[in-house]
Amino acid sequence: MSGNIKLEICDHADGVARQAAAALAGVIRSRSETVLGLATGSTPEATYAELARMHRDEGLGFAGVTSFNLDEYWGLGGDHDQSYRHFMTDRLFRHVDILPWNTHVLNGRARFPELECRSFEDRILSAGGVDLWLLGIGGNGHIAFNEPGSPVDSRTRLVSLTQETIDANSDGRFFSDAAEVPRCALSAGIGTIREARSIVLLATGDKKADAVAAAVEGPFTEDCPASLLQDHPDCTFIIDAGAASKLASR
Ligand code: GLP
Repeated sequence: MSGNIKLEICDHADGVARQAAAALAGVIRSRSETVLGLATGSTPEATYAELARMHRDEGLGFAGVTSFNLDEYWGLGGDHDQSYRHFMTDRLFRHVDILPWNTHVLNGRARFPELECRSFEDRILSAGGVDLWLLGIGGNGHIAFNEPGSPVDSRTRLVSLTQETIDANSDGRFFSDAAEVPRCALSAGIGTIREARSIVLLATGDKKADAVAAAVEGPFTEDCPASLLQDHPDCTFIIDAGAASKLASR
Protein backbone atom coordinates (compact mmCIF):
# COMPACT_ATOMS: atom_id res chain seq x y z
CA MET A 1 0.00 0.00 0.00
CA SER A 2 1.39 3.40 -0.73
CA GLY A 3 -1.28 5.14 1.32
CA ASN A 4 -2.23 8.69 2.02
CA ILE A 5 0.86 9.90 3.81
CA LYS A 6 1.69 13.45 2.70
CA LEU A 7 5.35 14.39 2.49
CA GLU A 8 7.02 17.71 3.20
CA ILE A 9 10.72 17.42 2.45
CA CYS A 10 13.03 20.17 3.73
CA ASP A 11 16.67 20.63 2.79
CA HIS A 12 17.83 20.63 6.39
CA ALA A 13 16.70 19.72 9.90
CA ASP A 14 16.11 23.37 10.86
CA GLY A 15 13.51 23.58 8.07
CA VAL A 16 11.78 20.54 9.58
CA ALA A 17 11.61 22.31 12.96
CA ARG A 18 10.19 25.48 11.42
CA GLN A 19 7.55 23.63 9.38
CA ALA A 20 6.56 21.46 12.32
CA ALA A 21 6.30 24.42 14.69
CA ALA A 22 4.23 26.27 12.09
CA ALA A 23 1.87 23.28 11.82
CA LEU A 24 1.43 23.13 15.61
CA ALA A 25 1.03 26.90 15.89
CA GLY A 26 -1.59 26.83 13.13
CA VAL A 27 -3.70 24.36 15.11
CA ILE A 28 -3.20 26.29 18.36
CA ARG A 29 -4.27 29.57 16.75
CA SER A 30 -7.26 28.07 14.96
CA ARG A 31 -9.22 27.36 18.14
CA SER A 32 -9.50 28.62 21.69
CA GLU A 33 -8.81 25.16 23.15
CA THR A 34 -6.42 22.72 21.52
CA VAL A 35 -5.43 19.17 22.38
CA LEU A 36 -1.92 18.30 21.29
CA GLY A 37 -0.14 14.96 21.36
CA LEU A 38 3.59 15.41 21.91
CA ALA A 39 6.72 13.34 21.43
CA THR A 40 10.16 13.16 23.00
CA GLY A 41 13.54 12.25 21.51
CA SER A 42 16.20 14.35 19.78
CA THR A 43 14.13 15.01 16.68
CA PRO A 44 11.43 17.31 18.13
CA GLU A 45 13.84 19.31 20.33
CA ALA A 46 14.36 22.02 17.71
CA THR A 47 10.60 22.19 17.10
CA TYR A 48 10.03 22.84 20.80
CA ALA A 49 12.75 25.51 20.77
CA GLU A 50 10.98 27.19 17.83
CA LEU A 51 7.61 27.03 19.63
CA ALA A 52 9.22 28.62 22.70
CA ARG A 53 10.60 31.36 20.45
CA MET A 54 7.17 31.91 18.89
CA HIS A 55 5.71 32.22 22.38
CA ARG A 56 8.35 34.75 23.38
CA ASP A 57 8.55 36.81 20.18
CA GLU A 58 5.16 36.36 18.56
CA GLY A 59 2.83 35.87 21.51
CA LEU A 60 1.85 32.30 20.63
CA GLY A 61 -0.28 31.36 23.64
CA PHE A 62 -0.47 27.94 25.25
CA ALA A 63 -3.01 28.73 27.97
CA GLY A 64 -5.72 26.94 25.97
CA VAL A 65 -3.56 23.91 25.18
CA THR A 66 -3.95 20.50 26.77
CA SER A 67 -1.13 18.08 25.98
CA PHE A 68 -0.71 14.31 26.07
CA ASN A 69 2.71 12.73 25.70
CA LEU A 70 3.27 9.50 23.86
CA ASP A 71 5.19 7.56 26.42
CA GLU A 72 7.26 7.34 29.60
CA TYR A 73 9.96 4.99 30.84
CA TRP A 74 8.61 2.45 33.29
CA GLY A 75 10.22 2.91 36.70
CA LEU A 76 11.26 6.55 36.28
CA GLY A 77 9.45 9.24 38.25
CA GLY A 78 8.93 12.69 36.75
CA ASP A 79 11.81 14.01 38.87
CA HIS A 80 14.33 11.68 37.16
CA ASP A 81 16.44 13.64 34.68
CA GLN A 82 15.90 11.04 31.95
CA SER A 83 12.15 10.84 32.42
CA TYR A 84 10.05 12.14 29.58
CA ARG A 85 8.16 14.37 32.05
CA HIS A 86 11.48 16.05 32.82
CA PHE A 87 12.32 16.29 29.09
CA MET A 88 9.03 18.02 28.32
CA THR A 89 9.34 20.45 31.22
CA ASP A 90 12.90 21.29 30.24
CA ARG A 91 12.41 21.60 26.45
CA LEU A 92 8.93 23.12 26.27
CA PHE A 93 6.60 23.46 29.23
CA ARG A 94 8.72 25.82 31.34
CA HIS A 95 9.25 28.14 28.35
CA VAL A 96 5.57 28.70 27.56
CA ASP A 97 2.35 29.51 29.42
CA ILE A 98 0.82 26.01 29.30
CA LEU A 99 -0.98 25.21 32.56
CA PRO A 100 0.87 22.41 34.37
CA TRP A 101 -2.34 20.54 35.18
CA ASN A 102 -3.15 20.43 31.46
CA THR A 103 0.05 18.50 30.66
CA HIS A 104 -0.46 14.74 30.74
CA VAL A 105 2.61 12.52 30.79
CA LEU A 106 2.14 8.90 31.84
CA ASN A 107 3.41 8.21 35.35
CA GLY A 108 6.30 5.75 35.05
CA ARG A 109 6.04 4.94 38.74
CA ALA A 110 2.31 4.38 38.89
CA ARG A 111 1.39 1.66 41.37
CA PHE A 112 -1.00 0.02 38.93
CA PRO A 113 0.15 0.44 35.30
CA GLU A 114 -3.12 -0.80 33.83
CA LEU A 115 -5.08 1.81 35.76
CA GLU A 116 -2.63 4.52 34.77
CA CYS A 117 -2.98 3.56 31.09
CA ARG A 118 -6.77 3.41 31.26
CA SER A 119 -6.89 6.79 32.98
CA PHE A 120 -4.64 8.25 30.25
CA GLU A 121 -7.04 7.03 27.55
CA ASP A 122 -10.01 8.36 29.55
CA ARG A 123 -8.36 11.76 29.90
CA ILE A 124 -7.84 11.94 26.12
CA LEU A 125 -11.53 11.14 25.59
CA SER A 126 -12.62 13.70 28.20
CA ALA A 127 -10.50 16.34 26.49
CA GLY A 128 -12.36 15.63 23.23
CA GLY A 129 -9.61 13.66 21.46
CA VAL A 130 -6.26 14.81 20.09
CA ASP A 131 -6.29 17.51 17.39
CA LEU A 132 -2.70 16.95 16.26
CA TRP A 133 -0.27 14.30 17.41
CA LEU A 134 3.41 14.99 16.81
CA LEU A 135 5.55 11.87 16.39
CA GLY A 136 9.15 10.85 15.87
CA ILE A 137 10.20 7.51 14.40
CA GLY A 138 12.67 4.92 15.60
CA GLY A 139 15.29 3.41 13.31
CA ASN A 140 13.22 0.22 13.34
CA GLY A 141 10.03 2.10 12.42
CA HIS A 142 8.64 2.33 15.95
CA ILE A 143 6.29 5.13 16.93
CA ALA A 144 6.10 6.07 20.61
CA PHE A 145 7.36 2.82 22.14
CA ASN A 146 5.30 0.62 19.83
CA GLU A 147 7.98 -1.74 18.65
CA PRO A 148 7.63 -3.90 15.50
CA GLY A 149 4.80 -6.41 15.99
CA SER A 150 2.59 -3.97 17.93
CA PRO A 151 -1.03 -4.41 16.84
CA VAL A 152 -2.72 -1.73 14.78
CA ASP A 153 -5.49 -1.47 17.38
CA SER A 154 -3.19 -1.45 20.44
CA ARG A 155 -4.07 0.91 23.30
CA THR A 156 -1.95 2.56 25.98
CA ARG A 157 -0.10 -0.19 27.85
CA LEU A 158 3.10 -1.43 29.46
CA VAL A 159 5.54 -2.56 26.74
CA SER A 160 9.04 -4.02 26.51
CA LEU A 161 11.74 -2.16 24.58
CA THR A 162 13.84 -3.89 21.95
CA GLN A 163 17.62 -4.00 22.37
CA GLU A 164 17.88 -1.75 19.29
CA THR A 165 15.80 0.95 20.99
CA ILE A 166 17.71 0.58 24.25
CA ASP A 167 20.99 0.98 22.35
CA ALA A 168 19.68 3.96 20.35
CA ASN A 169 18.75 5.76 23.56
CA SER A 170 22.07 5.06 25.30
CA ASP A 171 24.41 6.57 22.72
CA GLY A 172 25.19 9.53 24.98
CA ARG A 173 22.38 11.83 23.82
CA PHE A 174 20.23 10.62 26.69
CA PHE A 175 21.50 7.70 28.76
CA SER A 176 25.24 7.08 28.55
CA ASP A 177 25.08 3.36 29.32
CA ALA A 178 22.59 0.77 28.05
CA ALA A 179 22.43 -0.73 31.54
CA GLU A 180 20.75 2.47 32.79
CA VAL A 181 17.93 2.38 30.23
CA PRO A 182 14.68 0.96 31.60
CA ARG A 183 13.61 -2.24 29.81
CA CYS A 184 9.95 -1.29 29.75
CA ALA A 185 7.80 1.76 29.17
CA LEU A 186 4.21 2.92 29.23
CA SER A 187 3.23 3.81 25.70
CA ALA A 188 0.19 5.12 23.90
CA GLY A 189 -0.93 2.40 21.49
CA ILE A 190 -1.04 2.56 17.74
CA GLY A 191 -4.84 2.61 17.95
CA THR A 192 -4.61 5.52 20.40
CA ILE A 193 -2.37 7.50 18.05
CA ARG A 194 -4.43 6.69 14.94
CA GLU A 195 -7.48 8.32 16.56
CA ALA A 196 -5.84 11.76 16.48
CA ARG A 197 -7.54 14.04 13.95
CA SER A 198 -4.18 14.82 12.37
CA ILE A 199 -0.70 13.37 12.71
CA VAL A 200 2.67 14.97 11.95
CA LEU A 201 5.70 12.68 12.02
CA LEU A 202 9.20 14.19 12.01
CA ALA A 203 12.37 12.48 10.84
CA THR A 204 15.84 13.88 10.27
CA GLY A 205 19.09 12.34 9.15
CA ASP A 206 19.95 9.35 7.00
CA LYS A 207 19.75 7.00 9.99
CA LYS A 208 15.99 7.28 9.61
CA ALA A 209 15.93 6.84 5.80
CA ASP A 210 15.16 3.10 5.79
CA ALA A 211 12.39 3.45 8.37
CA VAL A 212 10.83 6.38 6.48
CA ALA A 213 10.93 4.52 3.14
CA ALA A 214 9.38 1.42 4.72
CA ALA A 215 6.68 3.50 6.43
CA VAL A 216 5.72 5.50 3.34
CA GLU A 217 6.34 3.10 0.46
CA GLY A 218 6.43 -0.34 2.04
CA PRO A 219 3.51 -2.58 2.94
CA PHE A 220 0.96 -1.73 5.64
CA THR A 221 2.38 -4.01 8.28
CA GLU A 222 2.91 -4.34 12.02
CA ASP A 223 6.56 -5.12 11.17
CA CYS A 224 6.97 -1.38 10.59
CA PRO A 225 4.68 0.39 13.09
CA ALA A 226 4.86 3.75 11.28
CA SER A 227 3.45 2.11 8.13
CA LEU A 228 0.21 1.68 10.10
CA LEU A 229 -0.34 5.41 9.57
CA GLN A 230 -0.77 4.91 5.80
CA ASP A 231 -4.57 4.80 5.92
CA HIS A 232 -4.90 7.79 8.27
CA PRO A 233 -6.91 10.56 6.59
CA ASP A 234 -4.57 13.37 7.67
CA CYS A 235 -0.99 12.27 8.23
CA THR A 236 2.04 14.28 7.11
CA PHE A 237 5.70 13.33 7.38
CA ILE A 238 7.95 16.41 7.65
CA ILE A 239 11.45 15.16 6.93
CA ASP A 240 14.84 16.40 5.83
CA ALA A 241 16.80 15.35 2.76
CA GLY A 242 18.73 12.70 4.71
CA ALA A 243 15.61 11.01 6.02
CA ALA A 244 14.06 11.20 2.53
CA SER A 245 17.11 9.74 0.79
CA LYS A 246 15.75 6.19 0.38
CA LEU A 247 12.31 7.18 -0.91
CA ALA A 248 11.81 5.97 -4.47
CA SER A 249 9.24 8.67 -5.16
CA ARG A 250 11.02 11.76 -3.92
C1 GLP B 1 12.23 7.01 21.42
C2 GLP B 1 10.82 7.58 21.66
C3 GLP B 1 10.10 7.80 20.37
C4 GLP B 1 10.98 8.57 19.41
C5 GLP B 1 12.18 7.73 19.05
C6 GLP B 1 13.15 8.42 18.11
O1 GLP B 1 12.27 5.64 21.40
N1 GLP B 1 10.03 6.77 22.51
O2 GLP B 1 8.89 8.50 20.62
O3 GLP B 1 10.27 8.89 18.25
O4 GLP B 1 12.88 7.43 20.26
O5 GLP B 1 13.93 9.30 18.83
P1 GLP B 1 14.97 10.33 18.24
O6 GLP B 1 14.15 11.49 17.79
O7 GLP B 1 15.84 10.68 19.41
O8 GLP B 1 15.68 9.66 17.14
